[in-house]
Amino acid sequence: WAVFAPYVAAINRLKAERNAVILAHNYMTPEIYHGVADVVGDSLQLAIEATEVNAEVIVQCGVHFMAETAKILNPGKTVLIPDSEAGCSLAESITAEGIAEMRAKYPGAPVVSYVNTTAEVKAASDICCTSSNAAQIVAAQESDTVIMTPDRYLARNVARQVPEKRIVWWEGACVVHERFTAQELREFREWNPGTRIIAHPECPPEVVAEADFSGSTSGIIAYVQHERPEKAMLVTECSMASNISDELPEVEFIGPCNMCPYMKKITLEKILWSLHSMQGAVEVDPGIADRARLAVQRMIDLSR
Ligand code: 13P
Ligand code: SF4
Repeated sequence: WAVFAPYVAAINRLKAERNAVILAHNYMTPEIYHGVADVVGDSLQLAIEATEVNAEVIVQCGVHFMAETAKILNPGKTVLIPDSEAGCSLAESITAEGIAEMRAKYPGAPVVSYVNTTAEVKAASDICCTSSNAAQIVAAQESDTVIMTPDRYLARNVARQVPEKRIVWWEGACVVHERFTAQELREFREWNPGTRIIAHPECPPEVVAEADFSGSTSGIIAYVQHERPEKAMLVTECSMASNISDELPEVEFIGPCNMCPYMKKITLEKILWSLHSMQGAVEVDPGIADRARLAVQRMIDLSR
């Protein structure tokens, strides 16, 4: 921590000077999560929080689609992302043309797009969802057929939870979660009896089927805080366990995890630079933002 202390102090000082607030995703490293974040959460919590910010500047410590979502919901505020290259394999997997393709293939079916998409894709969709409300959003659609984009695994996991709907999907995947296999989980459990396995729903369905619980990043944290298992394996991004292990000394976090190369682009140094220079402001075309806002707001209204 000594090496981080000067950055943490400088960022917290600049935050006050700039009237800025730092929204940080649960995948940020501990020095960001504990040291400088004003609000931490999953995608849904950060989107809702972005509608309630009073500060003039939002520093989004997460990936680009999260900063865009904050800008869509707060067009009048300055939204900074410390590294504009912090993308997402899901957001990169589909464009507005892809949405049009799906609509042509399944006429009349509503498009439910994961928030892990660009503003253009959100604008072309009927409603958004996150990992914490996907089943609820899909179940609320009137149509029997529902198009889910872009995560094929989230769509298939939701299909299990909402069997009354015919769900069709885009073939995108998260580079972090698609790498876990059911076989490795089974082997892990065999060697570590009593381990509670908790998987994010971006994992393949056969991986989720091996888990004791599946939920959004905040859902995973809440589950561990509530259950306090002796041993827990978080089948998700590596910072999750690091961020909560100090407050849960009785839980031993074991097992493999994967790093998100995009989330890990956000560092204290870059946060400091963005607050100092005020560079890296995210802009969204106002016409696109208006349509994207409808899709995000519909989701927020249904999730409250
Ligand atoms: P959550 O909404 O569960 O935080 O997920 C966001 C994400 O990018 C997970 O890979
Ligand atoms: Fe995208 Fe996966 Fe990284 Fe989340 S963990 S930002 S879904 S690549």
